[in-house]
Amino acid sequence: MLAELACFEQKCRASFPITETIYNCPKCGGLLEASFLEDRVEPQALKQLWRERRASNLALDQSGVWRYRELLPFDGYHRQAVSLREGDTPLLDAPRAAEYGGLNRIAFKHQGFNPTGSFKDNGMTCGVTQAVRLGRRRVACVSTGNTSASMAAYASAAGLDPIVFIPRGNISYGKLAQALEYGARTLQIDANFDQILALVRVLAERAGIYLLNSINPFRIEGQKTIIFELLDQRDWNPPDWIVLPGGNLGNTSAFGKALRELRRFGFITKMPRLAVIQAEGAAPFYEFMHGAGEFRSVTEPRTLATAIRIGDPVSWPKALYEVRESNGVVEKVSEQEIADAKAIIGRCGIGCEPASAATLAGIRKLTRSSTIRPDENVVAVLTGNVLKDPDYIYQYHTGQLKDPDGRPIEPRFGNQPVVVPNDPDAIAKILEG
Ligand code: F0G
Repeated sequence: MLAELACFEQKCRASFPITETIYNCPKCGGLLEASFLEDRVEPQALKQLWRERRASNLALDQSGVWRYRELLPFDGYHRQAVSLREGDTPLLDAPRAAEYGGLNRIAFKHQGFNPTGSFKDNGMTCGVTQAVRLGRRRVACVSTGNTSASMAAYASAAGLDPIVFIPRGNISYGKLAQALEYGARTLQIDANFDQILALVRVLAERAGIYLLNSINPFRIEGQKTIIFELLDQRDWNPPDWIVLPGGNLGNTSAFGKALRELRRFGFITKMPRLAVIQAEGAAPFYEFMHGAGEFRSVTEPRTLATAIRIGDPVSWPKALYEVRESNGVVEKVSEQEIADAKAIIGRCGIGCEPASAATLAGIRKLTRSSTIRPDENVVAVLTGNVLKDPDYIYQYHTGQLKDPDGRPIEPRFGNQPVVVPNDPDAIAKILEG
């Protein structure tokens, strides 16, 4: 659809051409969003078209992002889309997790099924396509791991030059390995995510870099399709709640925008409530929502869920707006709660990375406080694949996992590997026990 860039600040709303390379409003410094210039959308016809595309062999129709291209700001340019068949992620029922979370039923929308194993692919296919549209050769991001893995893959697929900036020693090996394998120049810095993002924003202009962090509005556009697809899979029946982890809060912004657009264009009438879950040691958005004062960043964010180890989330003003619009809530969970919830998701045969498990841990807290009722319809979004962080898994199950303060995390649902002798009698005896 035809679109422009608009300042997200409701007082400003200055607008700019969709092909301008800007990340903040040049007038007031506010965040930017893609804003549609058309209102003529026929929801029934589009619902049918999108369903038909699932049976098509066209690459763009098979993508769970570009299938919904009518609600993306690429107006014809989608033919040049850089796609790795992202999206198309399943909705999985998980009775055991539902019971643990205090619910009658739960469904996980598992973004870990994406080509590079996280929800970042939904956004990156659009971000990199915009880089190509703008004729940019060099792209970069700061990342706790998943964004860099995704950007490296999409940029290399498009023949661009990817540069990733990561906090040294604070991303999982699975993610670092992906960035290397997909051919990104990988720069490790002794600083945290927030400090490196500030640095790269200064560097961007000087080094001719196109920035692909979630401050880039085209990333947010792609991530909207997680919600489009989720509702499509539910025959457009909105759940009561959509639960997701919160780090830099790009995904919260994307989900809220998707829901607002679907309501505005008549695809849905009921708005699901968003529940954003943060890790206790990196919970500036939670503290802000539960206090009366100004937004305060956390200088030294700490959590083993390294994906959401972010103390100064750039998208908080958008997230605030979206949580309010959806009558949503923000919760925080401890390291032990994340670790246990993660093991439960694993026992459902599903698995996910630590940040994703914050969802189930948060749901358990929210049902206990009667914020979510057991009979409500809940979808939790698992943001990353179980294999992203195998060290964490091994340490949890063998009782070696320690929180950032060095306190042991109890393996309440631990599953120790057992060393057995090379002897059938001895093994049979052990298996009987
Ligand atoms: N879950 C996972 C697995 C993530 O990788 C991230 C963010 C989040 C949740 C939080 O999403 O930032 O939109 O609130 N990872 C980023 C990265 C920051 O660099 O890969 P958010």
